[in-house]
Amino acid sequence: MKNLKKIDPEIAELIKAEEKRQKETLMLIPSENYASFAVMEALGTVLTNKYSEGYANARYYQGNKIIDQIEMLCIKRAKKLFGVPFVNVQPYSGSPANTAVYFALLEPKDKIMGLSLASGGHLTHGVPKVTFSGKYFTSVQYEVDKNGLINYDSLEKLVLKEKPKLIIAGTTHYPRKLDFKRFAEIADKVDALLMADVSHVIGLIIAGVYPNPIPYAHVVTTTTHKTLRGPRGAIIMVTAKGLKRDPLMGEKINKAIIPGLQGGPHNHVTAALAVALKEASKQSFVLYNRQIVKNAQVLATELIKKDYELMSNGTDTHVMVIDLRKQQILGNTAAEALEEAGMVLNKNKVPFDPNPPFYPSGIRLGTPGITSRGMKEKEMKQLARWIDETLRSVQETKNRLRITIDLERKRSVREKIIKSTESLKNINRKVVELCRKFPVKKLY
Ligand SMILES: Cc1ncc(COP(=O)(O)O)c(C=O)c1O
Repeated sequence: MKNLKKIDPEIAELIKAEEKRQKETLMLIPSENYASFAVMEALGTVLTNKYSEGYANARYYQGNKIIDQIEMLCIKRAKKLFGVPFVNVQPYSGSPANTAVYFALLEPKDKIMGLSLASGGHLTHGVPKVTFSGKYFTSVQYEVDKNGLINYDSLEKLVLKEKPKLIIAGTTHYPRKLDFKRFAEIADKVDALLMADVSHVIGLIIAGVYPNPIPYAHVVTTTTHKTLRGPRGAIIMVTAKGLKRDPLMGEKINKAIIPGLQGGPHNHVTAALAVALKEASKQSFVLYNRQIVKNAQVLATELIKKDYELMSNGTDTHVMVIDLRKQQILGNTAAEALEEAGMVLNKNKVPFDPNPPFYPSGIRLGTPGITSRGMKEKEMKQLARWIDETLRSVQETKNRLRITIDLERKRSVREKIIKSTESLKNINRKVVELCRKFPVKKLY
């Protein structure tokens, strides 16, 4: 930071402040993580200076002999780790990766079918009206049932009726395992393509604690900055099943990335991804991801004991969603109060949420970040107590001030609740103490 401090002290200060925030709060957003130290080193290198449009040995620019080696090594590691015949490591992030798959394999207006936002799908899975995937394709979405679970019989009925060209099996907050075999059987009935988006659970798959879609899907996409602890980026894989269906599928994906959607790849990210893939092949990575799930299950059990309603009544992954309708607290108020107490998570829609996405009825939390700090079951029990204490205090304040849930959509009302809840500062002090006991450290 020596040069940065001298040239731009304003930005240097802000980065320092963000570093402090990350050190002194509990990272509970399930899509976030601490990239490994080696990954961060690879990111801050001269590789950012190079233009390399195209692919190894077929670039538009000269001077790419070394970049070619880096990208080929990254691809080799990904192919080996996941056991797939084709990989593209150039997508800038998860959303462009999904877009590239659609661009490669579909025509405009083709029918796609993904899980709805409230049920746990991602914006790129065909959310209607407001997203590219929902506007340029004909999107029919499936939902979870009243128990918060995907009902595969209902899904099959919908697929037989709608006959989509592509089905997406992937989620951002569905806390249970997906049955990729069943997805494939359903897709095969209408000859649909099956794309698995395993962005959230890729680390869990590597660790063998989550089902692997590679034998069943034609294409698999994943981000690289969540449970993988790599740089912000994404990978697109074509499976043996995908190539059997269309031997040109890999080529089509390559063309969709460039010239279809992107320009030059981010070479510093490619190198950092190669590092993350090397780290992910170690036994310590497997143990780390197993611990993520153990931690999430303890946290979920403790919260249920304290009378919280969890989507699908628990989790078998890294993520859980708390429905706060019983507590009569808006997701926004809960998330903001928990942040004040040092626990950073996000407001979230719950299945069949009567409220709009910006004022949802729940919160989403997960354990990848806190597990990266070395926290285990004991700390999860403590965390559940602090979450409960925070939310109970908010309830008490609301009762005292006679604030009903409909008033909480106003920012000023939420600020008043938080300001009037004394205990948040106390909890925050204890959270900071815990964070100091568990500094972010090298895991590998
Ligand atoms: C399942 C899933 N797919 C795709 C994405 C998009 O990734 P990005 O934010 O890198 O574009 C996300 C992001 O959270 C995700 O959860």
